[in-house]
Amino acid sequence: MLNAFSYEKESHHETMAIYLRAMALKEEIARRKTFAIISHPDAGKTTLTEKLLLFGGAIQTAGAVKSNKITKTAASDFMEIERQRGISVATSVMVFEYNGMQVNLLDTPGHKDFAEDTYRTLTAVDSVILVIDSSKGVETQTRRLMEVCRMRDTPVIVFINKMDLEGQDAFDLLDELEDELNIKVQPLSWPISKGYSFKGVYKLYDRTINLFESLKTKVSEEIVSISDLNDPTLDQLVGEYAQQLREDVELIESVYDPFDREKYLQGKLAPVFFGSAMNNFGVKELLDKFLELAPTPQHRESSARVVEPEEAKFSGFVFKIHANIDPRHRDRIAFLRVCSGTFERNKFYHHVRLDKDFKYPNPVTFMASAKTTIDEAYAGDVIGLYDTGNFKIGDTLTEGETMMFKGIPSFSPEIFKELVNKDPMKSKQLEKGIRQLTEEGVAQLFIQEPGNRKIVGTVGELQFEVIRYRLEHEYGAKCEFESKTFYKACWITTDHPEKLIEFRRIKGQNMVKDKDDNDVFLAPSSFMLDMERKNYPELEFHFTSEFKVAHA
Ligand code: G4P
Repeated sequence: MLNAFSYEKESHHETMAIYLRAMALKEEIARRKTFAIISHPDAGKTTLTEKLLLFGGAIQTAGAVKSNKITKTAASDFMEIERQRGISVATSVMVFEYNGMQVNLLDTPGHKDFAEDTYRTLTAVDSVILVIDSSKGVETQTRRLMEVCRMRDTPVIVFINKMDLEGQDAFDLLDELEDELNIKVQPLSWPISKGYSFKGVYKLYDRTINLFESLKTKVSEEIVSISDLNDPTLDQLVGEYAQQLREDVELIESVYDPFDREKYLQGKLAPVFFGSAMNNFGVKELLDKFLELAPTPQHRESSARVVEPEEAKFSGFVFKIHANIDPRHRDRIAFLRVCSGTFERNKFYHHVRLDKDFKYPNPVTFMASAKTTIDEAYAGDVIGLYDTGNFKIGDTLTEGETMMFKGIPSFSPEIFKELVNKDPMKSKQLEKGIRQLTEEGVAQLFIQEPGNRKIVGTVGELQFEVIRYRLEHEYGAKCEFESKTFYKACWITTDHPEKLIEFRRIKGQNMVKDKDDNDVFLAPSSFMLDMERKNYPELEFHFTSEFKVAHA
């Protein structure tokens, strides 16, 4: 029989166990960095990823990481596209250890038609590294991706790549970044010349010079300390470029305050590094500085409250779903970001939207390209859950609490087409198929009443091929698409509901509902949108379903 003493002992043990678990969780969180590398295609994202994985020991040889770019294929060659996409899915999350830290690098599709996938992945990271091609500067995708980062104040580190090529002037590049990306930047390293005469970088934070050597596979950086830039050693090292460096550094030091990490963490200031990913140059210092500066897993806002990563109870949300296109294997993988606590294999968790509990016997993580089953995952981690159709993008799992994580907006598609049923006998299958595919995030579905007309919106043409193919092969439904020349989808908000009712009545032809039953106006042109804004000043038109910086 238990006496008072053993009760006390028992509860003491329990308190101890809870305390130890909390400490272990705290330690695990403190050693995690979850981020993505973003860039306009061809700036060097794949090359940089590979070099980071080499440092992390996740791969042994250069060339092991295949570009997840979908190489140009005829749109009809859908299987080939999916095969290539399959490669990028296998590497959706790359986990490696470096200097005692666990780095979770989330991969993002390179092809612009899958940009929406990338936007959603950005909701699951705590920071990003933005790669810029020194000869191209800021490009279209750079702008868009940064807009998404700015919406959430995601901390950004900039890596200006390809310094071995004749790129633009470094000061001009900094100006361009500030002007076009709506963020302050501050160089933490500085290039010594560029192109054929590129000599290396001067690290402003520790006053050392890394001398450039063109080496593609090995890591060899000669690092020289320069306590005083007037030291003649500098002239011996970089010859005629020494004087320019002295002048540049003097200018930089007079213009910039000492680097303020707080501002970086608030997403207001982006530190800039220069290097050449292909030559493995400047990559190690980027990784070292990234690990020092970048945030550990951060809190998340939910519909009920702010959720802290250190909370004992597990919670997380699905930001990406990938279907197996092999019809014999209908399973899908839902990618879930753990937001708080510890996720455990085989434990029941609450699926908030369905109000049901499920357990997951085979959660996976991704070490380089190999999938491994895991028993536990901590806040900050991304895990893959096999799913038979229960998940939608944005779904939340908890230990019982009713809340949904915020911050997974829809963005206005670029291309709109109406879905036309080609086989009236299969309308049920078509209905189910298009709902499931859009829940996976392949495209956005807008419904127009009366008539239940389905307008499908995407970022690129490829998705229409994907949808047509999958509807036919997975659901047995046949469809066609009719082009619609809409300019943008605009989510409407207002404090004057009567004005919205009036607008809906007059603009019925262009009014649709999104998946969450929000009112969306499909603007025929930029000109017409401006007109409506003038005619209806009480209504606000937004290009995303969440509204912050990215106001239309
Ligand atoms: P992405 O994922 O951002 O699309 O770019 P990726 O790394 O595939 O790089 C695009 C091209 O730029 C590749 O050349 C790559 O070798 C090259 N590159 C990357 N970093 C550097 C660099 O620091 N300097 C120079 N000069 N080039 C760089 P490619 O010819 O398209 O492919 P590959 O045949 O070299 O693989």
